[in-house]
Amino acid sequence: MEQRKFFLSDSELPRQWYNILADMPSGMEPPLHPGTGKPVGPEDLAAIFPMPLIEQEVSREQFIDIPEEVLEKYAMWRPTPLYRALSLERHLGTPARIYFKNEGVSPAGSHKPTTALAQAYYNKISGTRKITTETGAGQWGSALSMCCALFGLECKVFMVRISYDQKPYRRIMMETWGASCVPSPSPETRAGRGILDENPDSPGSLGIAISEAVEAAVEDEHTKYSLGSVLNHVMLHQTINGLECQRQMAMAGDYPDVIIGCVGGGSNFAGHAFPFVRDKINGRDIDIIAVEPDSCPTITRGPFSYDFGDTVQMTPLLPMHTLGHGFIPAPIHAGGLRYHGMAPTVSQLILDGLIRAEAVPQLETFQAGITFTRTEGFISAPETTHAVAMVIREALKAKEEGKERVILFNWSGHGLVDMAAYEAYLSGRLCNHALPEEEIDRALKDISELPKPKGYRAAVL
Ligand SMILES: Cc1ncc(COP(=O)(O)O)c(C=O)c1O
Repeated sequence: MEQRKFFLSDSELPRQWYNILADMPSGMEPPLHPGTGKPVGPEDLAAIFPMPLIEQEVSREQFIDIPEEVLEKYAMWRPTPLYRALSLERHLGTPARIYFKNEGVSPAGSHKPTTALAQAYYNKISGTRKITTETGAGQWGSALSMCCALFGLECKVFMVRISYDQKPYRRIMMETWGASCVPSPSPETRAGRGILDENPDSPGSLGIAISEAVEAAVEDEHTKYSLGSVLNHVMLHQTINGLECQRQMAMAGDYPDVIIGCVGGGSNFAGHAFPFVRDKINGRDIDIIAVEPDSCPTITRGPFSYDFGDTVQMTPLLPMHTLGHGFIPAPIHAGGLRYHGMAPTVSQLILDGLIRAEAVPQLETFQAGITFTRTEGFISAPETTHAVAMVIREALKAKEEGKERVILFNWSGHGLVDMAAYEAYLSGRLCNHALPEEEIDRALKDISELPKPKGYRAAVL
C-alpha cells in the first residue's frame, strides 16, 4: 500500500521562521508615509502595531526564532499533515504525484491562525489590551478571535457587509471565541460613516474594513490593529508551513517540480512556497504558481505601483500589484481573495521571475472543488478551490506530456462553513465574473497621482 499521510511529531516543529527578505535577489522598495511620501520609520507604525512586529516587518535576518510560548500553542494543531492525493491522481489518470499540505486542521479551519497566534502573543507581551481587524469571508476574523482568546485579549472584527450577511456562522464562531463582530461599513467610524453617507447599501470591501479597523486602533492607546496578510511579518510567520513541507517531502522521498497556492493578499501561498523559493534562488528548478480569481486579477492584470492598503487612504503606500484602492470586487464566494492589493514580497518575486501567476474563473474553481471532494473527501474553502483548479490543470498537462511531475499545493482551509456557496454552485446559480478592461483603466486612475516604484509597470507584460 502506498503511503498517503506524512506526519511530523510535536518535537519536530520548526523552531524558526524563514525570512525571504534575506535572500530577495533585487531587494525591496520601502513603504512610504501616506502624508509625506517619505519611507515610513518604526515610529510611524507604532500607533497601530506593537514594536516586536514592526521589528520583524523590517528585519533582514534569514531565520527568526519562534518564542517558546508560541511554539507551545502552535502544537495545538501544528505540525499539520502532508497528504498524497492518490485518489485524485487515479481519477485524473495522471502520471503526476500530487501532495497537499492540510492547513484545514487548525481549530479555525485554515492557515490563518499561524500568524494570528504570533501576532496575539507579541501584542500581549507589549501591553496591548484589544486588537481590531477586518475580515472578508470570516476565516481571518475567526482565526484572530481564537488566538486573542488564547492570550486573554479583546478582539473586534469589522466584517465585509456582503459576507456578514452571507456567512452568519463565521460571525457566530467569532462570538463564541469571545470577539465582537460588526458589519462594515459601520456607523462606528468616520471611514464607515463616510461610505454609508454615499451609499447606505454598500456591500463593503476589505479595503473599507481595513480603514475602519485602523481608525478604531489609532483612537485608543491600548488598542492595536492586526492584518491577516500582505505585510512581511505575516508572510514570515506562515513560512513554518513550507519548512514543515520540506521535511515531509523528504519523508515521502520526493521533491516538488511544481508548487501551487491561491492568493488573496498572498500569505498562505508565501508561507508554503517561500522556503522553496530559497531553494530556487540556490539553483533548484521549480515552477511556483500563485493562483487568483479572474474577477480579481491583481497580479495577472494589475499594475505594479505604490498604492494604499485600504480604501480611505490611511495606511502606508506599499509597492505592490494592485487593482486600485477604490476597487470593489465582484461578489464571488472566495471572499478571502477579493482584495485589491498583493503582498510586496510576492509582487517583487513575480517581477524577479521566481514565481508566476495564473487567474481562474469561478465556475472552474467550484468544479475542481467538487472533483477534489468526491475523490479525496475533504471539502475545500472556496479560496482553496482556486489552487485545486490549477493542480488539476497541471496534472492533466503532465498526463498529456506523459511526464511524471511532482505537484505540491497548499490546501489552505476547509469549506465546512461555506456550504451556501456549494449549494449555489450545485443548483446552477453561480456564474463567472471576468474583470472588464475598464476596471484596469479605473485602477490606473486610482494610482495616477501616487509615487511610482523603480519597477513600476502600468500594464502586465
Ligand atoms: C482558506 C483561505 N485561503 C486563502 C485565503 C487568502 O488569503 P492569503 O492570500 O492571505 O492566504 C484566505 C483568506 O481569507 C482563506 O480564508
